[in-house]
Amino acid sequence: MPVVTEKANLNTKTANLVQKAKENKKVVYHTKDLNLWYGEGHALKNINLAINENEVTAIIGPSGCGKSTYIKTLNRMVELVPSVKISGEILYRERNILDKSFKVEDLRTSVGMVFQKPNPFPKSIYENVAYGPKIHGIRDKKTLDEIVEKSLRGAAIWDEVKDRLNQNAYGLSGGQQQRLCIARCLAIEPDVILMDEPTSALDPISTLKVEELVQELKEEFSIIIVTHNMQQAARISDKTAFFLNGEVIEFAETDKIFSTPSDKRTEDYITGRFG
Ligand SMILES: Nc1ncnc2c1ncn2[C@@H]1O[C@H](COP(=O)(O)OP(=O)(O)O)[C@@H](O)[C@H]1O
Ligand SMILES: [Mg+2]
Repeated sequence: MPVVTEKANLNTKTANLVQKAKENKKVVYHTKDLNLWYGEGHALKNINLAINENEVTAIIGPSGCGKSTYIKTLNRMVELVPSVKISGEILYRERNILDKSFKVEDLRTSVGMVFQKPNPFPKSIYENVAYGPKIHGIRDKKTLDEIVEKSLRGAAIWDEVKDRLNQNAYGLSGGQQQRLCIARCLAIEPDVILMDEPTSALDPISTLKVEELVQELKEEFSIIIVTHNMQQAARISDKTAFFLNGEVIEFAETDKIFSTPSDKRTEDYITGRFG
């Protein structure tokens, strides 16, 4: 066989292997025929999505299309709204979290959530991060110190706060507060981090820091991020789901969504024709 052909074959072979490795990623969340109503309002319609581990999955779509509702069903926060009715299945690591027998506490130890507005507790920086581990029974000061440092480092904020760990978290800037909230998530050693427009209240530099952080964190965690910023989705995510009026219109590799979307409505949205 000529060398060139052999090399081409080898390249194809490598490409196939990489593709296979990608396909072999484990599914962390599998949503099947999920419907959700707020009273009469049908907010989520037949959502079917399989979300892979160690990827960043972006949820995009215009305001009111169900992005926050969807992400809040993934950690069963949405059921705090009394009028909510849900049908379908959400498998988290193959267990249906909507099942009556499923304990919501099991999710609290594996799924962290970061909100649009940073929401630190009115406590010291240290206590904000140590809070979760303490609830889970860790009392040893040295162990807590280690967790606090590791989590703050993981959230790329350690150097900025290491000399004032006992000061109130409210004294931090918005961007620092949001990274502190991410550190608080990391402290429980989560499996998944859900983020609902985590940078929409931040300045451009803090936004960039959080975006860089998200990309680092996916090596260890699975991240689902709602964003109305399409450039952000394009920059940081592996897969993108486009929501419209409570439906998933398209779900694919982010590159594909932003270069050759299959649905006219996706194209209209990403080219700024509405939303
Ligand atoms: N607590 C609630 N009670 C009643 N309707 C709600 C509630 N929260 C959201 N909705 C409705 O559900 C739809 C989806 O909202 P939401 O998930 O917040 O959208 P998004 O995050 O994409 O902006 C909207 O029509 C909104 O008005
Ligand atoms: Mg929202």
